[in-house]
Amino acid sequence: MKALWRKIAGEGKANFLPVITMGLAWNKVAFADSQSALNPQGPLASIIADFFWAMMIVGGLIFLAVLTMLALGILKARHQSEPRPLTFTQSRNLVFLSGVVIPVLILLVYVIGSASVNRQIITGVPDDALTVEIIGHQWWWEVNYLNADGNPMARTANEIHIPVGKPVRLLLKSNDVIHSFWVPNLNGKTDMIPGKTNSSWMQADNPGVFRGQCTEFCGKQHAHMAFSVVAIAPEEFETWLATQIQPARQPRTEQQERGLQVFLTSSCMMCHSIRGTSAMAGVAPDLTHVASRKTLAAGTVENSHGALAAWILAPQASKPGTLMPATKLSNEELTDLVEYLMSLE
Ligand code: CUA
Repeated sequence: MKALWRKIAGEGKANFLPVITMGLAWNKVAFADSQSALNPQGPLASIIADFFWAMMIVGGLIFLAVLTMLALGILKARHQSEPRPLTFTQSRNLVFLSGVVIPVLILLVYVIGSASVNRQIITGVPDDALTVEIIGHQWWWEVNYLNADGNPMARTANEIHIPVGKPVRLLLKSNDVIHSFWVPNLNGKTDMIPGKTNSSWMQADNPGVFRGQCTEFCGKQHAHMAFSVVAIAPEEFETWLATQIQPARQPRTEQQERGLQVFLTSSCMMCHSIRGTSAMAGVAPDLTHVASRKTLAAGTVENSHGALAAWILAPQASKPGTLMPATKLSNEELTDLVEYLMSLE
């Protein structure tokens, strides 16, 4: 042990640099801000993280106890000239106690703890909380903000805005196969099962952008089924929601007007909707306020003029298997269309 420590800390004078570097590296990996269950940013994630650490500490202590007993056994055997094996009763009691009684008691505590955490995940949200319905699609997220009657008042995709400090109820559904909704910094994992509505909730205690990810293998682009939760101040959230409820803004230039016509006369409107126009299909993400979103295609590419143009021309290039087909447009049509879509804030 001393030799190992000297190797790490350095001969003669103490050199803690390697230890500190290793510690920082571990900290960076384990507590990365954007997507980590070990960096809880809300009450539900904290409950889950606390339970994880409780299990980790108990498990760690058991591991140390087993190693200590093993070491003691080896040392004792070395220093004994004549081995003295345990009697049958002693061995039986030892196996029964450490192999049955203690594990059963510990696992029982874990089961009770786990059930209590699960209960918090399902029922820990007040009745009057803001309700967001999230529907998993291959491979994107439909996000509907519901009013008091349970009807959608605003629809968006792949970005969920929530007010800081307020619990948000989640109604989780699927349109096709099983997906799973998880924002590690804010809540636990909940499956989205076709024909069923699962409920969960989340709350962010601080403003920030928290990455979420589909956590149930759901086909070719499962890995590109990400989303983000944007936690903002309650007043800011009210403004955001009021904007999202509005229909799309009218084209303000001739080019934007031509872009709208391209949208309405091409295959775009077969799948997408833009509220306030005649495009009302619900197969693909609602584009009423598409320019207000940071990414396209469920976190696959950033939302910019260039990336949007590339996505429209060749979606299969950045997300092979996506249900969006390539759209044949002239350069001019494409420029007009992108100009129009990027005006939809
Ligand atoms: Cu959806 Cu994996």
